[in-house]
Amino acid sequence: MRNPFDIKGRVIILTGASGFLGSGYAKFLREAGAEVIGWDRTGGKGIEAVDITDEGQVAKAVGTIVEKHGRIDALINNAAMNPAVGSEESKNMFVPVEDYPISLWKEELEVNLTGMFICIKAVVPWMKKGKGGSIINVASEVSSIAHDHRVYNTEGKYKSPAYIASKTGVVGLTRSMAAQLGVHGIRVNAFSPGGVRNEKMPADFVRRFGESNMLGRMAEPGEYNGIMQFLCSDASSFMTGANLTADGGKSAW
Ligand SMILES: NC(=O)c1ccc[n+]([C@@H]2O[C@H](COP(=O)([O-])OP(=O)(O)OC[C@H]3O[C@@H](n4cnc5c(N)ncnc54)[C@H](O)[C@@H]3O)[C@@H](O)[C@H]2O)c1
Repeated sequence: MRNPFDIKGRVIILTGASGFLGSGYAKFLREAGAEVIGWDRTGGKGIEAVDITDEGQVAKAVGTIVEKHGRIDALINNAAMNPAVGSEESKNMFVPVEDYPISLWKEELEVNLTGMFICIKAVVPWMKKGKGGSIINVASEVSSIAHDHRVYNTEGKYKSPAYIASKTGVVGLTRSMAAQLGVHGIRVNAFSPGGVRNEKMPADFVRRFGESNMLGRMAEPGEYNGIMQFLCSDASSFMTGANLTADGGKSAW
């Protein structure tokens, strides 16, 4: 009997493939036998430099894949503006609302939501031709709850409102696409992960964040790899329009 989790030979596009979680997904899915094509704005070793907010670049990159492989089985929309708490880059994203620049709001929505839609639009014709496919839209635990700013200990500074707005939008986009594409055998699901421990994070933040969920800890890098395989595989064949949440029970509390 065929293993329903088998993804050998599947052609999978992964955006944000150079990032903290994306690089782990790429390695894991390749080891499981998938043909992973990684895209990232920054490029990288074995990763194509593609800016997902640029329709022309995305269309060209999709064309190259189809020329080589003849099909696209899955798209993992993982790219987003999500600098790790504690990193220099994240500091711009912690500001009180009255100081939060509209330019940053626009940029975050452009990458996290519009870029995702551009990628979906580009792969759908090929998935229709192939009579199926799986699209995985990475949201966040904050697609159903708000950030609890007390754990950040940032004194009057708040994590970007565009992040939560865009991630909630990802879930709506997922439902819309699932409703439209189900008839073509194309499944569209959101994945909402909770915070993952990163070396850049201050230890007291890691402790406080961990205490805010039922498991009492942050996720470890790699804990979502199996979920990605599940969503790319036939094991999730009757699942579409869902928002799969892995947040240590935080949103259930
Ligand atoms: N790390 C976490 O704890 C966590 C928690 C919840 C949700 N998420 C989500 O998981 C995903 C991955 O997060 P991460 O922590 O690995 O973030 P990350 O910042 O390490 O990786 C994101 C990647 O996306 C790329 N990117 C940004 N803009 C792009 C563009 N226009 N075109 C192409 N690539 C672009 C970046 O260069 C980066 O490599 C994100 O969608 C994030 O919101 C992460």
